[in-house]
Amino acid sequence: MIERTLSIIKPDGVKKSIIGEIISRFEKNGLRISAMKKIWLTKEEAKGFYIVHKERPFYDSLTDFMSEGPIVVMVLEGEQAISKNREIMGATNPANASPGTIRKDFAENVERNIVHGSDSPETAQFEIAYFFSALEIF
Ligand code: CMP
Repeated sequence: MIERTLSIIKPDGVKKSIIGEIISRFEKNGLRISAMKKIWLTKEEAKGFYIVHKERPFYDSLTDFMSEGPIVVMVLEGEQAISKNREIMGATNPANASPGTIRKDFAENVERNIVHGSDSPETAQFEIAYFFSALEIF
């Protein structure tokens, strides 16, 4: 089934100048970039995006990190895009990520883990709508 998922290259990925490397991995694995922009979230915008994690101990630190510099947000589209993107990213904690995944290759730790990807169709719908209108997705 063709799906859409939200991908974010986080501030650490943008600072490391690996935007092209990351996008290239998506495209080589059959995911199309249906929408894309570079933005800089405020702390409040980061908190809204990660609202499901508001009770977690890392919520404050995570939203500080996500608002420390620009990010790249994208809509990826393709067969099983949600699970495929998660495979390409690797486990949330780079210590547990498989060889050849983005997080294994580039992430520093479980928080500064380079990329985000939606984890279900419901989450993808919320996350895509958080950043893009229907008119911006092709
Ligand atoms: P992400 O896939 O964007 O979803 C939630 C984010 O919270 C996660 O990637 C990490 O950046 C961060 N995160 C998850 N678990 C932890 C943790 N135990 N400590 C700090 N940050 C975490």
